[in-house]
Amino acid sequence: MSVLKNISFASKVAKSNIFGARYPLSVTFISTYRCNFTCEYCEVWRFKENEMSTKEVITMIDEFASLGMRRFSFNGGEPLLRDDIGDLISHCRSKGIFTTMFSNGSLVPRYVSKLRDLDILVISLDGPKEVHDRQRMEGTHGMVIEGIRAAKRAGLNVWTNTVITKDNLSHLCGLVEDAKELGVKMIFQPVLEYSHSSESSKIEGLASDSKEYQKLIANLKELKKKGAPIVHSLDYLDYIKVPVWAINKRKCWAGKLYCAVTPTGDVAPCYPVFKSGKWPNGLKMGFDKAFRSLGKFGCNGCYCALIESDFLYSFKVGAILNLMKSMEAV
Ligand SMILES: C[S@@+](CC[C@H](N)C(=O)[O-])C[C@H]1O[C@@H](n2cnc3c(N)ncnc32)[C@H](O)[C@@H]1O
Repeated sequence: MSVLKNISFASKVAKSNIFGARYPLSVTFISTYRCNFTCEYCEVWRFKENEMSTKEVITMIDEFASLGMRRFSFNGGEPLLRDDIGDLISHCRSKGIFTTMFSNGSLVPRYVSKLRDLDILVISLDGPKEVHDRQRMEGTHGMVIEGIRAAKRAGLNVWTNTVITKDNLSHLCGLVEDAKELGVKMIFQPVLEYSHSSESSKIEGLASDSKEYQKLIANLKELKKKGAPIVHSLDYLDYIKVPVWAINKRKCWAGKLYCAVTPTGDVAPCYPVFKSGKWPNGLKMGFDKAFRSLGKFGCNGCYCALIESDFLYSFKVGAILNLMKSMEAV
């Protein structure tokens, strides 16, 4: 069954490469804008929007599944603030859909039983206590570590996501050692100006393309080669080495092989642009039609977490082999 599914997946990607066919193979669901954290570089918690009901989200999952969706990612806001999160994850599992969730970790100890059907839990961890607390929220580092430990005790696959800023650069090789001790894998992304970031100057002030940044990425590459639990492919680490949007040259599959859905059901090409325009609403017109009506959209490129998906869909061999290796324990 799984072999057949993989063949069907690969053939959809091939059809997209050759004929320009579009399939929502991977969907990021901004489950809610509500969040119990107010991180320095994130403004999602400021937004308010009606949220789809459980039944509506399940309809959406079923519609996307019938179009070939293989991966569903719960993002936010803080997804664990949705009461029905366990049921939504279990519904995906019942349909054979691979699920991931980004969480700030604070509510994991309380709700860990709801996560039993989740494939990968990604918990945000930006460095040791003083750096993490400054960058995310005062007093939260201990909660995050507790969240990671609770998830590990429950037998979940846990990854950490670290946002790279000029303030935590010098701490991240040390964080790799912490990750080994905690038994988690790691992903990294440079701080990014999203369409919903209202203060460009704030993100610019946090971003870095300094020599120290270049050195960090080179060090992460070396650590990866030596077996550190870094999920990314070397292609990804090479790509983010020069974090300048305008020189972005990779092929982007946003709106073609993946999309993002807002809490109210608007379908956008990807997470970074979900606030950049008025997107078609899946509840009103059906998610199939909403996805297919995503036309060409303008963006200056980005270097967000979806880069690995872009490499996969562009059949980049190194990234595919790395992905298969990263999934070994899942
Ligand atoms: C928007 S959060 C939502 C999920 C959850 N509340 C959390 O904190 O992980 C998803 C991920 O995006 C990261 N993030 C938020 N704003 C960012 C930015 N401006 N640049 C890069 N990453 C960002 C967060 O650190 C987190 O790892």
